[in-house]
Amino acid sequence: MSILIKNARIVTAADDYTGDVYIKGETVQAIGANLDMPADEIIDATGKWLIPGGIDPHVHLDMPFMGTFSSDDYSTGTLAALHGGTTTVIDFVLQTQGKSLHHALDAWQGRSNGNAYGDYGFHIAVTDFNDNTAKEVRQMIEEEGISSFKTFMAYKGALMIDDGQMVGLMKEVREQGGIVTVHATNGDMIDALIAKHRAEGKLSPLYHYLSQPEVTEAEASGRFCDMANYTGVPGYIVHMTCEGALNAVRKAALRNQKMFVETCIQYLLLDASLYEKDFEGAKWVMSPPLREKKDQTALWAGLNQGLIQVVGTDHCPFKWEQKLMGKDDFSKIPNGHPAIEHRIELLFSEGVKKGKISPNKFVEVTSTNAAKIFGMHPKKGCIAIGSDADLVILDPNKEHTLSVKSHHMNVDYSGYEGWQVTGKCEQVFLRGKKAIDKGSVGIQKGYGQFLKRGKTSLVV
Ligand code: URP
Ligand code: ZN
Ligand code: ZN
Repeated sequence: MSILIKNARIVTAADDYTGDVYIKGETVQAIGANLDMPADEIIDATGKWLIPGGIDPHVHLDMPFMGTFSSDDYSTGTLAALHGGTTTVIDFVLQTQGKSLHHALDAWQGRSNGNAYGDYGFHIAVTDFNDNTAKEVRQMIEEEGISSFKTFMAYKGALMIDDGQMVGLMKEVREQGGIVTVHATNGDMIDALIAKHRAEGKLSPLYHYLSQPEVTEAEASGRFCDMANYTGVPGYIVHMTCEGALNAVRKAALRNQKMFVETCIQYLLLDASLYEKDFEGAKWVMSPPLREKKDQTALWAGLNQGLIQVVGTDHCPFKWEQKLMGKDDFSKIPNGHPAIEHRIELLFSEGVKKGKISPNKFVEVTSTNAAKIFGMHPKKGCIAIGSDADLVILDPNKEHTLSVKSHHMNVDYSGYEGWQVTGKCEQVFLRGKKAIDKGSVGIQKGYGQFLKRGKTSLVV
C-alpha cells in the first residue's frame, strides 16, 4: 500500500514548510516538492497541517487502582487516542509490593496483548526496591525494551517508596542506562492532611484539593531532583502542576542536570475553582489536583523556556458510578481524569491558535520530545525518511465542540463538556495505515504493537 500526501503544511519540531510526503508500507519513503510517484492513494492536503503522530507518555489503561479499574482498556483507550491524533502511548506497569517486576509485567501483557489499536510501550513502576528488583532492572531494559522506571513519592502502603529505596533504584538505573520517572508529591504530608480533614468531617471533593497544597509537590520535586543529582541518574517528573515545583526544577537546570518535566493538558487549561461544584468536582479529582491561574501561567512559561518538555494527559478515566465510590468521603474517589482524545486538539486550539506556543513547540511537546526522552526516536516522533509513517492531517480551521456525546473514551462524562475547539485531527495514519478518516476507523483491534524502547537519547 502506498499513499502520497500532497501540498501539506509540514510542521515538525524543527521545520515548517509546504511539501509532499510519500508513504510505502509502514514508513515514510520520500519527502519533497511536487513528488509524482505513482501511489495507491493520493490525498490533497492543501490548507491542512501534516504533523507527526502524537505520543502520550502518560496513560493508565485498564489499571487496577483504588479498588477498581480505569475504564478505558487497551482497545477503547488507544482508539480514542487515535481519534485525537495520538498514535503511540506509554502506559504504566505497577509492581505489587512483595512481588517481582516480571509478575506485574505478565499481568499487563495479559490485558494488553492483541487488544490495542494504537502502538504502546510500558514504563515499569518500582514500588518495592530490593536485591531481586535490582536484578530485574537490567532485564527490563535489555530483554523487555522497558527503559523507564516510575516511582511514587505518595500513595503510601500501595505504591510509595521511601528515599532509601529511591536512591538504591536510581543508582541501579543509572548503571544500566535507563531513566527514573516520578510522581513527585510528599505522601506523608498529604496523608496527614487527608486524616485531619476526615477527622473534621470535611469530606467533599474540595478537600482532595486542600489536602495536596502546592508545597507538597514543590518539596517532593526538589527532593527528587537532589537525589537524582546525587546519584547521577537522568530524571523525569510526571504531571507537574505548579509554579513551586517548576522552581525546584530551575535549580536542577542551573546545575545542568538531566531532568525532564511533563505537564498535562488539564493543568494548562483547568483550575481549582472546579472543586467548588460540590460532588461534581469529583470529575476532576486527580493527583496532583488542579491548581491556580498563576500556576497555569508558570506552566505555559515553562514550556516556552524549555523547562517543561512534554505535555501528556495522565489519562486515567473512571465512570461516574466509580467516582461515586467517594460520594461520602473524598479520599475514596478514584483519582484520575479522561483526556487521551483531546490533548492535541486542545493544545493546538488553546496554545497555537491563541499564540501561547509556536507550531514547532506544539509538535515538540506533543510528540518529538517524548520520543527522544523515552528511546523511540527516530522511529517515532518525527517526519523523516525511514521513520514510521505515523502522521496526522490536521485541519487548522475546523471548529468543533467537545462533549460526552461525541467522544470515544469509555467514560460517561467529559471534563471539557461544551469546550469550543478550533482544529481537528481529520486523518490519522499509523505505520502507513489510515487508522482514522474523518471519524471512521480503518484498522482492526490488535493492529497496535508493543514497542520495545531503546535507552534514552537525552538531547531534546
Ligand atoms: O490522579 C491520578 N493522577 N491518577 C492516576 C495515578 C497517578 O498518580 O498518576
Ligand atoms: Zn501520579
Ligand atoms: Zn499517572
